[in-house]
Amino acid sequence: MKIDINNYEYNEIIKDILNCREFKKIEAYPHHKINRLEHSKRVSYFSYKVCKSLNLDYVSAARAGLLHDFFLNKYNNKNTRKLLVEHPLIAVKNACKHFNISTKEKNIIESHMFPINIKILPKYKESLVVSLVDKVAWLYEKVTGYSKELNYTLGKTAIFIFLCLTN
Ligand SMILES: [Fe+2]
Ligand SMILES: [Fe+2]
Repeated sequence: MKIDINNYEYNEIIKDILNCREFKKIEAYPHHKINRLEHSKRVSYFSYKVCKSLNLDYVSAARAGLLHDFFLNKYNNKNTRKLLVEHPLIAVKNACKHFNISTKEKNIIESHMFPINIKILPKYKESLVVSLVDKVAWLYEKVTGYSKELNYTLGKTAIFIFLCLTN
């Protein structure tokens, strides 16, 4: 799931969001073993690609995809379940505060946890695309994150065994 950083059209669509100082703060928050900005860019870019290939509104998908996790809260043991349900509403609030957000973009952001949260349903095809891409990105990031950790642990173990054998 590699992003084409030279995609001119895509970069034009999202550049004002990426230049917003408040939005860029999400980079400091861990998310699925990477940071929240990296995850949001992945969801945005692949939602853009999918919607473009399906002749859907790829501009809304790219923008709302980027903003779907625009919240500055850290997950911990106590708040995980609550934040899982509530963060789309925090993200919509933050998005509306800093950008001009359409009704469709609002729905894309606030319904992206469907079907974990069924209180707000996806009303547009673009909402379904972003919600699905978010889940695929989550899975991808978890798996690659764990494999990085595993490689690191295996590497450390190999060095340890080598040092024990050569001493
Ligand atoms: Fe989310
Ligand atoms: Fe997400």
